[in-house]
Amino acid sequence: MVSNTSFRDAMSRLGAAVNVVTTDGTGGRAGFTATAVCSVSDEPPTVLVCVHCNSQAGITLRENGLLCINVLRAGDNAVADTFAGRSGVYGNDRFGSGEWYQLSTGAPVLKSALIALDCRIFETQKVGSHCVCLARVEAIHEGHQGPALMYFQRRYSALEAAI
Ligand SMILES: Cc1cc2nc3c(=O)[nH]c(=O)nc-3n(C[C@H](O)[C@H](O)[C@H](O)COP(=O)(O)O)c2cc1C
Repeated sequence: MVSNTSFRDAMSRLGAAVNVVTTDGTGGRAGFTATAVCSVSDEPPTVLVCVHCNSQAGITLRENGLLCINVLRAGDNAVADTFAGRSGVYGNDRFGSGEWYQLSTGAPVLKSALIALDCRIFETQKVGSHCVCLARVEAIHEGHQGPALMYFQRRYSALEAAI
């Protein structure tokens, strides 16, 4: 049996892009930092996001039924830390970090994001501690090109495109 700690240690070696997943609506405005984000289908454009079912952001996201995946650029470590709760800031106050606007669904879009996918959730499945949210992409924010913010071995790093 693999323990929770060994699993987390193993996953720390799976380098991943850092995103801030946001939402807004009747449940309020919320957001959290996430690496568990994945492309599912291109026809129709579909993604998945895994969020802890009991986290405040996870509850709000499911209530609103919509989300925006903001793919962070290198240098936006402070935004990532804020939305991971590492600065002791919660709920709507997290949006004091970064500049935001809205696209199609009303979920906050980060102006400095490399790319942002504005989505509507159509299915949620609970798997252990986390909820897998399947969402359809309704609009895309295209930011300036540049290095991406990655998370590897519990640290941030920058990923440059090869030339
Ligand atoms: C690099 C990084 C990646 C993370 N990825 C996820 C994730 O994919 N899913 C998740 O539920 N939490 C993830 N977290 C933890 C959440 O960002 C954190 O628990 C957040 O505070 C939840 O928001 P809440 O406090 O409003 O509930 C990650 C944290 C960090 C630092």
